[in-house]
Amino acid sequence: MEEIGKTMKFTKNILCIGAGYVGGPSMAMIAYKCPDYRVTVVDINADRIDAWNSPHLPVYEPGLDRIIKKTRGVNLFFKKDIENQIKENDIIFVSVNTPTKMYGQGAKMAADLQFCEKTARQILKHSRSSKIIIEKSTLPVKTALAMEKILLSSSKGNIRFEVLSNPEFMAEGSAMNDLENPDRVLIGSRETKSGLAARNKLVNIYARWVPMKKIITSNIWSSELSKLVANAFLAQRVSSINSISALCEKTNANIHEVAKAVGMDSRIGDKFLRAGIGFGGSCFKKDILNLVYLCNQYHLHDVADYWESVIGINQYQQERFVTNILNSLFGTLAGKRIGILGFAFKADTSDTRESPAIYIARKLLAERAEIVISDPRALKNAANDLSDIRGGIQYTENPYKAAVGCHALLILTDWDLYRKLNYRTIYRSMIKPAFLFDGRNIVDHEKCFKIGFNVYPIGKEALTHF
Ligand code: NAD
Ligand code: UGA
Repeated sequence: MEEIGKTMKFTKNILCIGAGYVGGPSMAMIAYKCPDYRVTVVDINADRIDAWNSPHLPVYEPGLDRIIKKTRGVNLFFKKDIENQIKENDIIFVSVNTPTKMYGQGAKMAADLQFCEKTARQILKHSRSSKIIIEKSTLPVKTALAMEKILLSSSKGNIRFEVLSNPEFMAEGSAMNDLENPDRVLIGSRETKSGLAARNKLVNIYARWVPMKKIITSNIWSSELSKLVANAFLAQRVSSINSISALCEKTNANIHEVAKAVGMDSRIGDKFLRAGIGFGGSCFKKDILNLVYLCNQYHLHDVADYWESVIGINQYQQERFVTNILNSLFGTLAGKRIGILGFAFKADTSDTRESPAIYIARKLLAERAEIVISDPRALKNAANDLSDIRGGIQYTENPYKAAVGCHALLILTDWDLYRKLNYRTIYRSMIKPAFLFDGRNIVDHEKCFKIGFNVYPIGKEALTHF
């Protein structure tokens, strides 16, 4: 297959550095939509590249398999020879990880830009022709300036680099649909002649399948900042509804009814108003911390405090979920068996990064509970997340097996399959009184109560038999 790719005539050669959750799916979509482009994805992690080239992709995303089958080895290639690929390609997406910095100045707040900077230096070292470098990673505002400074730091004859910002807005679990039908594509550039020319080249790539009215352009700093702000706004909505869920539980108001009434105001909108155990995922917390750090750097401390409170409420929501379990189970979890349904940070992904389930599982274990974790896709990652803990944890894909002999069952991920379980069968297999904590409000609470469960939803009155 590879040979076919090499002999075909391609109209553009595109490279992506970073074969993760963003690099793999987003480049697969470009290859799928533009069969005349040759798209190559490289990574320093050789195992990841091997996995992309195998039947077991390193990322689970509905619809990804189908697109990879159509493109891999035809015009999409996963490779390890980063240096050569830099030489051979003129358009380079940078999609490396930008985690929270865990050391030195800005520790636990600022973005760790070491992977990004290393990539810029590598590009500089191995380039033999002019290139357009596209920031796809989420970066603090003004990072493009640092990239430019590195790329312009040593004279290389006539070689020119133009840096663009093209943040990715896809969400995991719906990535393929988000990439195929994005709400918008944002491209930021310098407003110079060469900057605008580079921007147009990228616009033309997306225009192959995205309507022009959805491709928006801006100055490069607005583009970088918009990405952080979009994530901060989304996370803020989740924290807002979660904060109100606590009040609902005290006042017998129902969070579903409140969210519906509030969300029907067209100025507010009905999306992202699902109360739960708090947001997880690799980006919301990291990007807000990054925003907070930036605000503080510019001495905007009140603005920083405002955004930091979004994370505060998220932590509060997870803590109060555990406290509620402890109080409801008569103040002790020691020796009790607790089943966890769902470990991924949301449905339809195997990703567990920053999943609230990690915090909740650790808290239960600290109370000396025995836990059984079930998830249709994320058990491998769950075992990694808890690999430092000895004993007290079992894993099973089968939710019915997980429930057997449990005192309580917790729903921590909104997998559709958990809506459809036979809760009567599950109830029969559990220790009585049986408790059900629905951290995602996805089951029929009245029905489960009638079956015999003591049911604890989020933001709704508990239904108990006591
Ligand atoms: P990831 O950790 O899954 O993938 C990043 C990859 O980059 C890793 O495989 C790593 O080995 C590789 N890498 C690091 N340095 C490298 C180098 N010098 N050369 C080659 N490869 C290198 O991360 P991700 O989830 O794909 O996120 C990437 C970026 O996209 C982040 O900035 C993130 O904030 C942003 N983002 C993520 C999502 C998402 O849903 N995961 C969505 C939008 C934006
Ligand atoms: C989020 C954004 O939605 C994407 O636009 C962005 O590109 C991405 O972050 C990123 O930069 O990484 P993602 O984290 O994959 O995407 O998933 P979301 O659907 O946003 O969910 C995030 C978390 O919020 C999940 O834990 C989810 O369960 C939770 N959530 C979401 C709620 O608790 N309630 C809601 O109403 C919505």
